[in-house]
Amino acid sequence: MVSEKKKYQAYYTKSTPIVEYMINQLSLQPLDKIFEPCGGDGVFIESILDKNEFAQIDICELNTDSVKILNNKFSEFPNVKIRECDTLLDSELNLKSRFGGVYDKIIANPPYGAWQEHEKRTTLKKMYPSLYAKESYGLFLYRCIELLKEGGVLSFIIPDTFLNLHMHKELRNHILNRTQILDLVLFPSSFFPGVNFGYANLSIITLKKNNNNTECLKNSFTVISGFDDVSQLSNVDNKFLKTYSFNQKDIYNNPDHAFLVTENNNILKLINQSKFKIGDIADCVTGFYSGNDKEFLQVISPEIKNSKNYKLVKIETINRDYKNNSNILNGILGDQHFVPIVKGGNIKYLKQESWFMNWSNTAIQHYKADKKARFQNPKYYFRFGIGVPMISSSNITASLIEHKLFDQSIVGVFPKDENLTYYLLAFFNSPTCNKLIRTINPSANNPANYIKKIPFITPKKTILEFITEKTKGIIDEIRETGNYNKSDELEIQSIIEKIYKV
Ligand SMILES: C[S@@+](CC[C@H](N)C(=O)[O-])C[C@H]1O[C@@H](n2cnc3c(N)ncnc32)[C@H](O)[C@@H]1O
Repeated sequence: MVSEKKKYQAYYTKSTPIVEYMINQLSLQPLDKIFEPCGGDGVFIESILDKNEFAQIDICELNTDSVKILNNKFSEFPNVKIRECDTLLDSELNLKSRFGGVYDKIIANPPYGAWQEHEKRTTLKKMYPSLYAKESYGLFLYRCIELLKEGGVLSFIIPDTFLNLHMHKELRNHILNRTQILDLVLFPSSFFPGVNFGYANLSIITLKKNNNNTECLKNSFTVISGFDDVSQLSNVDNKFLKTYSFNQKDIYNNPDHAFLVTENNNILKLINQSKFKIGDIADCVTGFYSGNDKEFLQVISPEIKNSKNYKLVKIETINRDYKNNSNILNGILGDQHFVPIVKGGNIKYLKQESWFMNWSNTAIQHYKADKKARFQNPKYYFRFGIGVPMISSSNITASLIEHKLFDQSIVGVFPKDENLTYYLLAFFNSPTCNKLIRTINPSANNPANYIKKIPFITPKKTILEFITEKTKGIIDEIRETGNYNKSDELEIQSIIEKIYKV
């Protein structure tokens, strides 16, 4: 049974500064025809009617209970039309968008990632083939751009993931070519009462429909961020906020049309113009999943973090000779069939050997056949490379994969030229790399596709050798003492900073 919350993904805009800011963005005029595509309990409508009780407003809402609330609140307003319908599929709205849009103003806080019945998702995929059908807010935004008339303005509060996520590339393309962005405000999701997405921040995007794509691409707009408090939305000229100006054409020309929001021009230049990216000089791949770690994964000691539900590995079942086994991808015969595996967790340079995977012939047959298992990118298993955890805490980190298996929470980075391995290990652990990846993708995730886009500058041979030796030194020290000399690390990082000028 899907909960009401999951079904409708309703996070209500119970924040006066947010509502006021968005309504102001619309510059409402007395004769405006206004649309609210997901009415909820009507906070935007109340505020609009406070300003103009005769405003012509159409509301759509899918949830019968919310429709009742809306009817109770607004029944005495003949100018407010409430319909119980699905905004994304409704045929009346289809007609309106086919006519090139009819609304002067649209305001919304659409559902984020609303759960869709399988059947509905298939229909949505057909209706919006180039969009990311799983993420409902993107579909609402697209739908509403189509429903605006030429010159009409829309203001939406939505997660900021559409600015960078791969999956939203076509949505960005549409926004950049069919609308002029008036402004974009970025702030923490905790500003929304009762909401805190671990994975993303929130944004308010205000845009104007314009069918002339040359004019759209010429348009410049501001991005405002650096908010400490939601009340600052009532004065966005506040000099403590950060304001950036962007041209739509520049955003359009960024890789995947991503909105790269940074004050540092060098970062932008590198991301756009560097001759090489990590993806050119290294293979970046996601690792293995057994499908049922509780059954197949074992741990060396109960002291290891998150090991409570795992069996302890028997030392005599650990295989130490697997590197010489040319048939290793088909599994190991006999009792010594546990092999070390590198898992996620943000540890720099070298991880303790803690986890072991059942690599027997029968287990392998299971991994290859099981639906939940991921026997993916096997040619990279047991190779020498670098592991970057998919989820970073504050900074991206990397540690060696010393001829081990690595799991799906790790992106394995395998340089085409092995001489680059230690240099890259140092680079991934540097603030320079962190700034680059956080501009490419501001969330704390580092999937392979983003890692591939990080600019790579080939170091001079002497520098390559110097950093390689220093990094090997750090690793030897960790192996011996469990710790390393931070001044060596700082020295490496300052060299990398000079190379990248970031
Ligand atoms: C996030 S709430 C926002 C409500 C209100 N606009 C606000 O800001 O408080 C989203 C609303 O959209 C409704 N909704 C979800 N999917 C919908 C759909 N496909 N069509 C119309 N309404 C939908 C939900 O029932 C919910 O009331």
